[in-house]
Amino acid sequence: MAADKLIIFDTTLRDGEQSPGASMTREEKLRIARQLERLRVDVIEAGFAASSNGDFEAVRSIADAIKESTVCSLARAFDRDISRAAEALKGAASSRIHTFIATSALHMEKKLRMTPDQVYDQARSAVRFARNLVADVEFSPEDGYRSDVDFLCRVLEGVIAEGATTINIPDTVGYAIPELYGNFIKTLRERVPNSDKAIWSVHCHNDLGMAVANSLAGVKIGGARQVECTINGLGERAGNCSLEEVVMAVRTRRDHFGLEVRVDASQIVPASRLVSQTTGFVVQPNKAVVGANAFAHASGIHQDGVLKARDTYEIMRAEDVGWTANKIVLGKLSGRNAFKQRLQELGIELESEAEINAAFAKFKELADRKSEIFDEDIIALVSDESVTPSREHYRLVALSQHSETGERPHAKVTFAAGDEELQAESAGNGPVDASLKAIEARVQSGAEMLLYSVNAITSGSTESQGEVTVRLQHGGRVVNGVGADPDIVVASAKAYLAALNKLHSKAERVAAQG
Ligand code: KIV
Ligand code: ZN
Repeated sequence: MAADKLIIFDTTLRDGEQSPGASMTREEKLRIARQLERLRVDVIEAGFAASSNGDFEAVRSIADAIKESTVCSLARAFDRDISRAAEALKGAASSRIHTFIATSALHMEKKLRMTPDQVYDQARSAVRFARNLVADVEFSPEDGYRSDVDFLCRVLEGVIAEGATTINIPDTVGYAIPELYGNFIKTLRERVPNSDKAIWSVHCHNDLGMAVANSLAGVKIGGARQVECTINGLGERAGNCSLEEVVMAVRTRRDHFGLEVRVDASQIVPASRLVSQTTGFVVQPNKAVVGANAFAHASGIHQDGVLKARDTYEIMRAEDVGWTANKIVLGKLSGRNAFKQRLQELGIELESEAEINAAFAKFKELADRKSEIFDEDIIALVSDESVTPSREHYRLVALSQHSETGERPHAKVTFAAGDEELQAESAGNGPVDASLKAIEARVQSGAEMLLYSVNAITSGSTESQGEVTVRLQHGGRVVNGVGADPDIVVASAKAYLAALNKLHSKAERVAAQG
């Protein structure tokens, strides 16, 4: 008998992006959406179209570009939000509107200040309105897991009667326990009279570290056939259910779940790297499936076992989820065509010939300093703000610094701010500190630095480029800037300027959970 299908709904670009500091530009979102399409996820939640013009444009570009996955926009249960979502999704080959309203007593009383009857009416009318615009409508009762079960059943019956095609049950605050959550979904499906008219979905947050376990229990015990998840478990607070873990659990334990997923697992590691490089959220080395150590066997006994028979200590094959040995892909002698082709293979689409030329010039510069260029270098290089200079306000022009044992380090930085070229210098505790202090002295952003981290882009050698993430907070906004260069002082200055650029583009947003 053919196995049931489990729908993979990726919300990296919506719920994942709500993580402070993970906000992405339209171009970054589009690049990730293309990778999600290559990964063959069923649904891409591209954003929350009504939250800002930036998010609207991002959803629209993704809807226009993606052909193989359904593109979805979140919308509060207001006609205006739903109309904006429908408008942004107009160009999609397959589209979905995901509307939500809170149903727990706590949220209704304290946050919405609405009575249960008002929430019931608004939920029904939102789904009715959405169904007049698109055929595929998902409804979520926010904080559903902490809602009164009788009231929840009444709301869900009502929205299914209005035509909701997917019912998603969020554990918004990550409070659930696997067995209890699984049984909760089962109870709802048994008690809602028209439950068979919709697909049931799980959406779990990871506050107690059980998002994946809860989601799988919702599938196995509750009978849910859609899982909402994010790459690397990205998301607010402790994050969302991690896509790679759910997919590989269902694949590896097909004997237990008996379910099929459409995902091309060999695209998991490239997706993980792209999301991590774009957001600056580093993947912990011991993270299941995508952590650098996930397939590394250090102990002699394990190494010996794996050499004799792989399955002694490995339940998955590294290559099946997209791990490849660091492969040299290009070098100093590679030409523009080879470079352009590699960009295409990596799914990177630069908008104009001028951008390809700028990226190729950067590549040649890098190849002069670093003999072996890997895919990770290319991804970092095109993420560099200097490839798309027209869109960035601040750009690094030159940097020199002096540090000597026993002396206080000093840096001089030249950077562009719009059409102006600025120079700045400063002393600091180290060369990085001096460089960033110099920039800040000139820009006077007043931003507070929340995070500074350095990583080697490709492991194994000091020849690797350093990738620096800087997280800044200012005026209630948290942004991440990422910069890469073989010189980590230069990478740091680029990352700082990239973060300042994000603060500079003051895209306003409304909170999805607000
Ligand atoms: O966690 C949550 O409740 C959500 C909803 C908006 C679906 O993300
Ligand atoms: Zn959520």
